[in-house]
Order: sequence, then structure tokens, then C-alpha cells
Amino acid sequence: SFDIIGDIVVVRLPDECPIDPGRIGEALRAFVPGARLVGADRGVHGPDRIRVLDRIAGDGPFTTVHTEHGLRLHVDLGRAYFSPRLAHEHHRVASQVRPGEVVFDLCCGVGPFSAHIARDGRASRIIAVDSNPEAIELLKRTLAELATATPVEARTERVEEFLEGTEPADRAILNLPHEGIKYLAPLMGRVARGGTIHYYEITPRGRVGDRGKELVRESGAGSEWRCLSSRRIHAYSPQSDMVGYTLERRS
Ligand SMILES: C[S@@+](CC[C@H](N)C(=O)[O-])C[C@H]1O[C@@H](n2cnc3c(N)ncnc32)[C@H](O)[C@@H]1O
Repeated sequence: SFDIIGDIVVVRLPDECPIDPGRIGEALRAFVPGARLVGADRGVHGPDRIRVLDRIAGDGPFTTVHTEHGLRLHVDLGRAYFSPRLAHEHHRVASQVRPGEVVFDLCCGVGPFSAHIARDGRASRIIAVDSNPEAIELLKRTLAELATATPVEARTERVEEFLEGTEPADRAILNLPHEGIKYLAPLMGRVARGGTIHYYEITPRGRVGDRGKELVRESGAGSEWRCLSSRRIHAYSPQSDMVGYTLERRS
């Protein structure tokens, strides 16, 4: 399978690829309109979740502008995480924001959730946090072009430090699928009554129904919180999916 990110094509190839990757790259470059560069995906690595890419066709940097629901996002695949597979989710979460909400976008990457919410203009304030300064720099570039009236504070900071001293939010997004669980309980303590958390996790297929209730139980949130819904975002492996859970604090 392959993804298109701006004018870059990212393709997943088997470890023992029977066809020369260069030929696959050139074929994709010819097939995808406007493709400049093709990279073979060697997986997402390290704390900044950066995708390692082997250039197999084309030239120029791994920097591009990706358009998602009409929104222009500055992306640099060599320096910060980005996946086009979350486009619908970025848009869906933004559409749920109510007038005046304070929103936290934690582990924001290049900030697509924040940018969508800022463009919609209903939040009173957005605080976007990521430990990777390159990701925050790219978000600032996106926001500068967006010229939104919604104040967005883009901070290079670790989630655990940010959560120690912050005011409460009405809505929070926590998108660190392999490790986010360790921040869920502290985050629950920073969301106001009636507030919502959009939490993302890789979940084994068939466990999604139970996992929502388990998340609330594991975080020790008791009866104050409930899981409103769980949604499969995309396949992650043959046995698991990237799943979005919507958790709500009772009023
Ligand atoms: C899955 S990516 C984020 C994707 C982004 N929300 C989106 O929708 O495109 C996870 C991000 O978490 C950041 N990260 C990892 N550990 C962190 C921590 N302890 N505090 C803040 N950010 C962290 C990484 O730098 C990375 O950008």
C-alpha cells in the first residue's frame, strides 16, 4: 500500500522485495499525479515517532505541504511525524468542538488537530504540545498561513511536564498510540466536568468493545468518567487497529 503526502509518495515494501525498489518508485512517480519523490517506509522510530524513509525515486527534500479537507499543513517527514490516514479523524474531532471550549492537543505532531480546530473558529483557546521542537516549528508555519482568530499556543514541552501546572481544558486530544496510557490518568485530572478526551491506542482486533470500559477502570477514574464511543481509525497490523476512544467526564 502507499500514502500520498503533498507531492511525496510513501510506500510500504516487503522486507524481501522481489522487484527492484527503484523500479517501483519510478512506476509510482509516473502513476501518482504531481508526485515528486517516492520514499520506502522503514517504520516509525524513536520518541519523536519519526518515519525512516529510503528515497527510491525522485529528488528534493522530504518537506512538503499536504492538503487535508482544504487545510494546508506544513510537513517534513524527515523531522516530524505525520500520517495522512488520520485526516477524517482530525476533521471529525474539530467538528465536535463547542463554542468557547479550551482545547489541549497533546502529542500534537505538526498540529493537524489544532489547525482544523483553529480554522473552525469555535474554540476560545487551543494549547498544542509536543516534545519535538521541529514539529512545533512546522505547526507555527501552518498557523501563520491560516490567519485564524483563535489563539493557539504551540509549546515544545513534554506532556507530563505540561500537565503538572495547567488550567483545566474542556476537551483534550491525546494521540501517542503506544504509550499514551501513562498520561491518561493525569490528563483526566485536568479536564473539566462535562469535558471530553479523544484518546488513541493500538488495540487488538476483537478487544475494542471492552477496552473503552477498561481504560476508565485502569485510570482509576471511577464513575466520574465513561467511554462514549470507540472507532476504528485504520488497520495497524493484521491483528490490531488504531482505535479512537471518546471519554466523557460527567457534569
Ligand atoms: C502519533 S504522533 C502525533 C500525531 C498527531 N497528533 C497527528 O494527528 O498527526 C506522536 C507525537 O508525540 C510526540 N511525543 C512523544 N512523546 C511525547 C511526550 N512525552 N510529550 C510530548 N510529546 C511527545 C512525538 O514527538 C510525536 O510528534
